Amino acid sequence: MLTTGNTILITGATSGLGRAFALQFLAEGNTVIICGRRSERLAALKAKHPALVTKECDIASTEQREELCAWAVQNYPDLNVLINNAGIQLATDLTKPVDLAPVRNEVETNFIAPLHLASLFAGHLKTKKDAAIINISSGLAFVPIAFMPVYCATKAAIHSLTLSLRHQLRNTSIKVFEIAPPSVDTELGYHHREDKTQSHGGIPIHEFLAEAMEAIKADLYEAPIGQAKGLRAKGEDLFGVMNQRG
Ligand SMILES: NC(=O)c1ccc[n+]([C@@H]2O[C@H](COP(=O)([O-])OP(=O)(O)OC[C@H]3O[C@@H](n4cnc5c(N)ncnc54)[C@H](OP(=O)(O)O)[C@@H]3O)[C@@H](O)[C@H]2O)c1
Repeated sequence: MLTTGNTILITGATSGLGRAFALQFLAEGNTVIICGRRSERLAALKAKHPALVTKECDIASTEQREELCAWAVQNYPDLNVLINNAGIQLATDLTKPVDLAPVRNEVETNFIAPLHLASLFAGHLKTKKDAAIINISSGLAFVPIAFMPVYCATKAAIHSLTLSLRHQLRNTSIKVFEIAPPSVDTELGYHHREDKTQSHGGIPIHEFLAEAMEAIKADLYEAPIGQAKGLRAKGEDLFGVMNQRG
């Protein structure tokens, strides 16, 4: 897809991959609307990059998703790209009864919200000559790391959902992308890190971004990035290797 001249809504762009996409798309001459829950982060980004449009929104709330869509379509009628990026990653111990509140929140944020937003925006996006929905899944969609089973299952579900969405929208102007990042050094998973100062590792954000932008420009509709390619190709053959530590 052409990566200039679009109006793009990115969920979860107060940090990490969403923020990196936002600044890159801004630099390439797009109107960029970002959302997230942390208002102070949105304000700081707006102060540094006044051209960014910011909107506080908790995508785990059905009402706020509906409000976001109505607001965006009314105020930014040229909107032609939705990037479903926001996500959380929690550890879940399945060997004892789970607390369902965080499980439901993770499923709502990572799976139901992108599904709902895609369906809310589809009618509007179809009216644009060039349009796209870009879902951010994960290499862990193809082989899970077992201590975060809910996260990995939501990403497998996003992969499956993206195939169906692409099929349902095949006769429209909407291109449907899946970008599957490898481990990238962001704040993701912060809550289950014992040492909060420690990075979770992964490749630098700029490396991820360069390959992801290439994939989007080349209309590579399913794009595992970096080491996620191996996970996509070998899938569950790698489960033992990935879970040696516990
Ligand atoms: N980093 C990796 O290794 C990696 C690998 C594979 C896939 N991914 C995927 O990439 C996406 C971005 O993750 P990241 O690595 O950039 O993590 P991150 O730095 O933690 O960023 C996550 C973003 O999602 C937003 N968010 C979370 N819950 C939200 C909610 N309920 N409503 C609105 N926004 C919400 C956060 O903003 P607020 O807190 O301000 O709401 C934040 O901007 C996620 O879907 C993640 O699963 C990341």
